[in-house]
Amino acid sequence: MKILVTGGTGFIGSHTSIELVNDGHNVVIVDNLCNSNIDTLDRIRKITGIKVKFYDVDLTNYKDLESVFIENKFDAVIHLAGVKAVNESVQRPLKYFMNNLNGTVNLLTIMEKYSVKRLVFSSSATVYGKMNDLPLKEDSTLDVTNPYGRTKLMIEEMLEDIFNSSPNWGIASLRYFNPIGAHSSGLNGEIPRGIPNNIMPYITQVAVGKLDMLSVYGNDYPTHDGSGIRDYIHVEDLAKGHILALEKVLKNNLYEVYNLGTGKGYSVFELISMFEKTTGIEIPYKIVDRRDGDVAACYADSTKAFKDLGWKAEKNLRDMCIDAWKWQNNIG
Ligand code: WQD
Repeated sequence: MKILVTGGTGFIGSHTSIELVNDGHNVVIVDNLCNSNIDTLDRIRKITGIKVKFYDVDLTNYKDLESVFIENKFDAVIHLAGVKAVNESVQRPLKYFMNNLNGTVNLLTIMEKYSVKRLVFSSSATVYGKMNDLPLKEDSTLDVTNPYGRTKLMIEEMLEDIFNSSPNWGIASLRYFNPIGAHSSGLNGEIPRGIPNNIMPYITQVAVGKLDMLSVYGNDYPTHDGSGIRDYIHVEDLAKGHILALEKVLKNNLYEVYNLGTGKGYSVFELISMFEKTTGIEIPYKIVDRRDGDVAACYADSTKAFKDLGWKAEKNLRDMCIDAWKWQNNIG
């Protein structure tokens, strides 16, 4: 099948493109490279042997995006393009509404015009409110506390409205928990711009000596050891979830939401000690104040994805640490 991957040179997008190519799909990537690197195309080729077609296009440019659909007859779209830094979204909400919302409206309008009505959308566990019981289910209460999360929730609602208006679409929204790790070959992974916001690339940069010390954002949470608990999921498991969701939407008219998490929560201190045990490298850290917007604990109930898609995370936290460290060693 010919599949358009928007945001396909990004962390999740590149791993998803690799899985798609390995599954025999004809992949076309659209990306504006605002938070990724064109060299990722070479890494996809090194891993798969295939040079995927690439368009340096911004989804907010309707004309440029339409030309991609004029040149290619797509069977489906996997939509990951968007800006995703929670703290930046608080400072610059309009950047998030323009990129994530306008970009998505352009994409959906063109998809409808060219009768491409099969879509997998990259959503996020940030759409869940803080007051939920754990583990989080797809029908847990939704409540966003930042513009980034608001764009994800608004897009989910747009997609549901589109399906309700014309139920000949097949659409799946995937709510990611905390994607970490890297491709098991060591040839692809995350390349954060500047100082990493997220914990795993921060830990690996401390381990490789690029950063001095990890700041642990609070050890006074109501958790077993006081640090924040998250559902870390290997990026390859997450990518495989997209393939199964794609198969679902290719065969069915539907709108469905799926949690993609392992169902297991690990604290910051447990992640640090797993990394240290796995690599033999000590990670110096200091306790600092809680980070605004952080929740104490967040982990998934992914039984719906297992029942509907046959998807289950296979890799464990040790695998995630090994692969993240292998990748950091490759990029220095
Ligand atoms: C994990 C834990 C921190 C950094 C974010 C986005 C979410 C999604 C995934 C896009 C927390 C602690 C972190 C550090 C720390 N992205 N931490 N020191 O915030 O759970 O989720 O990334 O969809 O939308 O919100 O991930 O890796 O930033 O934090 O102590 O230097 O590590 O407090 O408990 P988060 P994270």
